[in-house]
Amino acid sequence: MNEDILRADIVRYGALLYTRGLAHGSAGNLSVRLDDGAILVTPTNSSLGFLKPEQISKVSAKGTHIAGDPPSKEAFFHLAVYDERPAANAIVHLHSTHAVAVSCLCHKDSFDVLPPLTAYQIMRIGRLPLVPYYRPGDRKLADAVRGLAGEHKAMLLANHGPIVSGKSLQDAIHAYEELEETAKLFFLVQSRPVSLLTCEAIAELNDVFPS
Ligand code: 13P
Repeated sequence: MNEDILRADIVRYGALLYTRGLAHGSAGNLSVRLDDGAILVTPTNSSLGFLKPEQISKVSAKGTHIAGDPPSKEAFFHLAVYDERPAANAIVHLHSTHAVAVSCLCHKDSFDVLPPLTAYQIMRIGRLPLVPYYRPGDRKLADAVRGLAGEHKAMLLANHGPIVSGKSLQDAIHAYEELEETAKLFFLVQSRPVSLLTCEAIAELNDVFPS
């Protein structure tokens, strides 16, 4: 895909996420993979609501800054996900309220931190593992993400927020929005008797709608 179009897409979707309240302040980062394996990633400390196409950073597959403003400090976990998921072409990492709230809870089992509530949760997100806490930008965070990325389209960074990948920026954003809405539902239904999807229903969804 043409680099200018992808830069414009990042600006457009960044503004949309900011306007919708999914991104705030200078939190969060977006990236897309180019045909040669380099990535376009939002600059560090930038607001997703006010990006300019020429400022967006270009980083090689090995992590070298090639063009644009200095890249997100999380570029290394973006690269780790691209390494482990050859079909992924875009990544969304935000600090949206409900998903971050789930990331701050004590979880008995880090294998999957949201119960199976809805069909679209299974279809767009699947199992959501918790990645242990490391400070933003720590290379150990990128290593921990690498360990889970091959198996998971979406992961939740403890006390931080989700990372969601997709075959396109639109696909990754749709999945991210589904995750935030699922987290909101999780808090809405808490303390009420909940009817969860059965193992059979989940298996059927995975069969009919493979990710
Ligand atoms: P950057 O501003 O470096 O992209 O970091 C923001 C963030 O969301 C850290 O996780």
